[in-house]
Amino acid sequence: MKTIGSRLFFLLAVCLAFMLASTLFHYENVVGLKDKLILMERFNDLRDNILELRRYEKNVFLVGDRSDVDKLISYLLQTINVFNDLRGQMKNIMGALALEEFQNDLQTYEKLVYRGMDSEKQGAADYVNSQIREKGKLLNDYVDKLIETKRRQIDQAINTTLIIPFVFFLLFLAVFAFLLFKARRNISKPLSILHTATGKVSRGDFTQIYYPTDRGDEISACINAFNKMTKEIQIRQEQLLHSRKMASIGIFTSGIAHELNNPINNISLITETLMDENDLTPAEKDKLYNDLMGQAERAAEIVKGLLEFSRNDQEQLEKLSLDDIIEKTVRLVQNKIKLQQIKYVKSINTPLKPVWIDKSRLQQALLNLLINAIQAMPEGGTLGVAIRAGENPDEIRIDVADTGSGIPQDQLDSIFDPFFTTKKEGEGTGLGLSVTYGIIKKHGGRITVTSKPGQGSIFSIFLSTKEKHDPGHDPA
Ligand SMILES: Nc1ncnc2c1ncn2[C@@H]1O[C@H](COP(=O)(O)OP(=O)(O)O)[C@@H](O)[C@H]1O
Ligand SMILES: [Mg+2]
Repeated sequence: MKTIGSRLFFLLAVCLAFMLASTLFHYENVVGLKDKLILMERFNDLRDNILELRRYEKNVFLVGDRSDVDKLISYLLQTINVFNDLRGQMKNIMGALALEEFQNDLQTYEKLVYRGMDSEKQGAADYVNSQIREKGKLLNDYVDKLIETKRRQIDQAINTTLIIPFVFFLLFLAVFAFLLFKARRNISKPLSILHTATGKVSRGDFTQIYYPTDRGDEISACINAFNKMTKEIQIRQEQLLHSRKMASIGIFTSGIAHELNNPINNISLITETLMDENDLTPAEKDKLYNDLMGQAERAAEIVKGLLEFSRNDQEQLEKLSLDDIIEKTVRLVQNKIKLQQIKYVKSINTPLKPVWIDKSRLQQALLNLLINAIQAMPEGGTLGVAIRAGENPDEIRIDVADTGSGIPQDQLDSIFDPFFTTKKEGEGTGLGLSVTYGIIKKHGGRITVTSKPGQGSIFSIFLSTKEKHDPGHDPA
């Protein structure tokens, strides 16, 4: 009794069994009632006979009309016959004792009738007559009582016949409710677990469903298949991530080579000039030294970005207010905002909860987003920073929005790759977003982007407000 099919079959069988039982019971009852009514009819016959008997008894013994003697004898014999026929049923209803009494009375009555007809003497006949009348009345009373008792039994049987369908209906309702409850437990509940798990998969959570999968029904087969599928998807996703990582490393190494090559080339060129040219004025020399310094700084900056990117040391998590950190970070780019005549708008659309974060790293992550936003709006625009509710109650979201150039669809997949940049040399290293991505990931959060070329971009950071997460765990 495991599969849904067999469960349905069982349910159907239960319904049918109930219907059959109810019909049989009803049939039995109606047949019983019919028998009782037939018997009642025969009891009525007995009473009619006794009534006729008493009528002629009155005519013969009270009025003295001897012409009715034949009728009297005929009804007496008929009454005895009917009584003999019904003796068994009467015993059932009135009991053996009462039956014996009736039988004795009837026999006495019979004897008295014969004696009464034989009696010649007037005085003796009166005595016999009064005894006949007395016994006749007893017989009559007995049959009246019999019929009354039978009628009560019939009333009872009718009531039972009326109530039985309702009793069966209630019983059926109770059994059906119980089966439904069981079906809910065995079918609806696992289905809702499956439903929740599917939702989780769509959010990238491949947790297996823990449910007894050896029950041999369709549900456990389904859950088995689901678990197998999520496992497969997870493996495929890891493979995909790995190949993307490999591709990134390719871009990464050529990027390092390219990025560092330029300042190093420049440094060697400038150094050569300084060594070869003897007739340089002090002012020219100063300028070349400055250039040298600038190129060295640029190389140092690239190396610093690289270090930040590959930094793997323990984070310094503190419980801090996001609002505060955003304020401090925006202050760092205040100058650029003013210079490019950008309008800065901050909004807080959710109750602020403190978040466990590494202050300087989160600041770095936000700074990278702010710089990108500012760089995307060379002609000015609006820079919006908003703190919102996340997708679940344990999440908070920071949006960094600009009304700048936007990002073409085909570049959206690459912008988080290290060294991916669309900017001129000297303006961008292509490390900003990959560093930001790494920092958010380390905080147990995620970052998404929506962008429309020509209209602007929104970068959204989602952070957990739950208790301190394990910073060593990097799910990617
Ligand atoms: N707010 C933004 N608006 C438009 N494009 C952006 C924005 N942020 C990032 N990008 C695109 O993503 C690329 C990578 O960004 P990033 O990793 O910060 O490197 P970089 O800024 O040094 O180029 C940028 O070159 C740019 O094309
Ligand atoms: Mg950048």
